[in-house]
Amino acid sequence: MEPHPRDPGRAAWALPCLLLLALPGVDAQAGQGFTLQQPQAKVTVTAGDSLTLICTVSGDAGPGSVMWLKGWGNGNKTIYDPNNWDPSSRVTLAAPESNTDFTIHIRNIQPEDMGTYYCVKFVLGMTGVPEVFKRGDGTEVTVQAKPSPPLVSGPEQRARPDESVPFTCTTGGFFPDNIEVKWFKNNNPMTAKPPQVTQSRMKTYNMSSTVMVTLQKNDARSQLTCEVTHPTLRAPLRGSFQLSRVLRVSPSVEVRAEPSPAEVNKTVAFTCLLKEFYPANVSISWLENGIEIKGQNLSGPLEVSRGLFELRSRVEVQATEEKNGSTITCRVVHDGQAPANDSAVLWISNPTLGGLSNEFQMNKDDMLIYIVVGVVCTVLALLVAAILYLIRTKQIKAGKSSPSARLHEPEKSSEATTQESDPNNLTYADLNFEKERKSIRRMVEMSQQSEYACIQSNQAPNGDDNLTYADLDMVHLSKAPKRPAPRPEEAGSEYASVQITRK
Ligand SMILES: *[C@@H]1O[C@H](CO)[C@@H](O)[C@H](O)[C@H]1NC(C)=O
Ligand SMILES: *[C@@H]1O[C@H](CO)[C@@H](O)[C@H](O)[C@H]1NC(C)=O
Ligand SMILES: *[C@@H]1O[C@H](CO)[C@@H](O)[C@H](O)[C@H]1NC(C)=O
Ligand SMILES: *[C@@H]1O[C@H](CO)[C@@H](O)[C@H](O)[C@H]1NC(C)=O
Ligand SMILES: *[C@@H]1O[C@H](CO)[C@@H](O)[C@H](O)[C@H]1NC(C)=O
Ligand SMILES: *[C@@H]1O[C@H](CO)[C@@H](O)[C@H](O)[C@H]1NC(C)=O
Repeated sequence: MEPHPRDPGRAAWALPCLLLLALPGVDAQAGQGFTLQQPQAKVTVTAGDSLTLICTVSGDAGPGSVMWLKGWGNGNKTIYDPNNWDPSSRVTLAAPESNTDFTIHIRNIQPEDMGTYYCVKFVLGMTGVPEVFKRGDGTEVTVQAKPSPPLVSGPEQRARPDESVPFTCTTGGFFPDNIEVKWFKNNNPMTAKPPQVTQSRMKTYNMSSTVMVTLQKNDARSQLTCEVTHPTLRAPLRGSFQLSRVLRVSPSVEVRAEPSPAEVNKTVAFTCLLKEFYPANVSISWLENGIEIKGQNLSGPLEVSRGLFELRSRVEVQATEEKNGSTITCRVVHDGQAPANDSAVLWISNPTLGGLSNEFQMNKDDMLIYIVVGVVCTVLALLVAAILYLIRTKQIKAGKSSPSARLHEPEKSSEATTQESDPNNLTYADLNFEKERKSIRRMVEMSQQSEYACIQSNQAPNGDDNLTYADLDMVHLSKAPKRPAPRPEEAGSEYASVQITRK
């Protein structure tokens, strides 16, 4: 008779009749010397692998099958029953031909296969119902399961720089529960609270770890990484998150008018500059005193630094006189947010005053130079005035009385007395004398120091004038030889005597 898993079942029908005939004797004899060996106390297997459960029997226990059960008592589950075996199941006998080896293989072990497995020898009871005759010590099966690839999730809505937002890393289906999580921002380690590990239905564990991140303006290219380490893994598993998915940097909006002020009927270009924004979706509209006008983009959004964008839009307005003072507004809606705007006013320069005021504005910087020059000039003028005053007082002292004369001598005369006098020396005289005294021949001391100048006027001046001035500039006064005293002349002649006091 070929031993076959199904044979014990088939025999079960015939055996009760035989057993009834000599039950006490056969049963007692058959049970003696029967052993059942289940040598594995604990087995650890990785999910997906095959599990081998060993069970061998020896001796004769009489009719009745050897089965595998998972668990004992309530909630037990039949894993292998030779009378009810499905060839397509994950369970197969290791040695189908054997009468003594009831080792089984279970393919593709899953975490839910965890439990204690018993190899059990049944015999038919008095009522014909199979009864447990002997069971093995049980094999505790542990299934190690790898965590699923970690998933990082962020906030539902975008957040501004400086906002602190939570990011969560989850993984599940792992066993045992000792798992480690590390967070990185651009490869820099971050501090996070210990992960929360919970047991799920399938006897495995789930993990959730949360980290708070304060967003920064330059995070458009930053990445968060969650790194999971578990005994079942040769290398850590990583999940990542691009911060650009949750970052919103609003643009700064600035409008410039060029030129400002503008000449009448010239074109004024208004440029709207949107700086450093993310994401790129932005819409721009132009308003002139609140009414929409058509603008033109100088380019699409340009990626400038650190993943942020920049955009320039331009509108040209004819500077007609009635538009003086118009407000041109650039209105920006960024990423579905409340509009932002900036404005510039269209100024038209006054045709006549425009240039002047313009020049005034432009020369603003030169003002300082002018002030300095003015101060220097004033100081110089005061200096000259002071010198003139000093000269004047000296003259008054020297002249003593009203009709006065003064000789300007060459510079050399004021220098050291030892200096020889140059024959080419020129002496000049200023004359100031009263008209009334023209009749008086004032004879000046005929000393060696005296010199004379002859001034001739052909016509008598108008009687109204009290004073006659003679400027002796360029009149050459000869020092030597002495000439006789001036003789009387015609009525039109006037004389001045000039005295030079030598040092
Ligand atoms: C297995 O469970 C059934 C009912 O669920 C129970 O009748 C049977 O006695 C149990 N068997 C063992 C070996 O515990
Ligand atoms: C555990 O994680 C798995 C995915 O890894 C998920 O499908 C399951 O819903 C989680 N269970 C619990 C209780 O969180
Ligand atoms: C500006 O243009 C308007 C209309 O074209 C014209 O009437 C006006 O004289 C112009 N003004 C000047 C200063 O050119
Ligand atoms: C300019 O670009 C912005 C943003 O891309 C868009 O909203 C706007 O309609 C564009 N305007 C023109 C005239 O193309
Ligand atoms: C511009 O923005 C201010 C608030 O910043 C708002 O009060 C004003 O109405 C806006 N102007 C336009 C034309 O949108
Ligand atoms: C435009 O308005 C400014 C300020 O009111 C004024 O100074 C300027 O003269 C005006 N220009 C013209 C052309 O009227």
